Amino acid sequence: MAEPLRIAVLASGRGSNLQALLDARRDDSCGFQIVGVFSDRAGAQALERARAAGVPAIALNPADHATREEFDAALCDAIDAVHPDLVVCAGYLRVLGDAAVQRHAGRIINIHPSLLPRFPGLRTHAQALAAGVAEHGASVHYVIPALDAGPVIAQARIRVLAGDTPVSLGARVLEREHPLLVACVHLIASGRVFQRGSVVFVDSRPRSEPLLLGADDQLIEPVDA
Ligand code: GRF
Repeated sequence: MAEPLRIAVLASGRGSNLQALLDARRDDSCGFQIVGVFSDRAGAQALERARAAGVPAIALNPADHATREEFDAALCDAIDAVHPDLVVCAGYLRVLGDAAVQRHAGRIINIHPSLLPRFPGLRTHAQALAAGVAEHGASVHYVIPALDAGPVIAQARIRVLAGDTPVSLGARVLEREHPLLVACVHLIASGRVFQRGSVVFVDSRPRSEPLLLGADDQLIEPVDA
């Protein structure tokens, strides 16, 4: 059997997406292992979750570095010391500079709480409500230097309900983020998906649109209503 995919996770805060990956790993056939968790905040709950699960957890302080580039380089050195096959940004709140992204090109993904390309950046749930969309959700995409602009592997969609607030909407999106991230990591671990420039390939075929997370938490072809 092939060696399980080695994953490094970057997280700045709560770490519920990290926890979903840690929990999924309990299944022996999961095909991946988490070899390190890295944060820009020493107090991040994500680091506690990693340590509780017996995973090495490392915090680097941006204030200890003269420039963003120097911080990124130190972070990349720490990440690369655990020899990851894949870097997962799961609530990592600092923008990674171009050099850090290029260093892991094709091997770095991010989970973002909107249906990209709509609502990149911050406060995505408030953006979605202000735009009056009927559907919202989350995306897992490959990271490229442009923010939240890399090719999307898969999305989870939810309905926006009358009376939704950014908090209620965000809570329902987060519930779907967890199985979405786990499903995408499984797909990558299976070797069925890769990135070439702005295109995601699945089963050797370029995709024109992202896969969709189905009600059973499996990735399926999207069928537009
Ligand atoms: C998630 O909503 C994720 O999509 C975004 O930041 C949040 C992180 O949540 N990038 P958690 O730290 O995984 O609980």
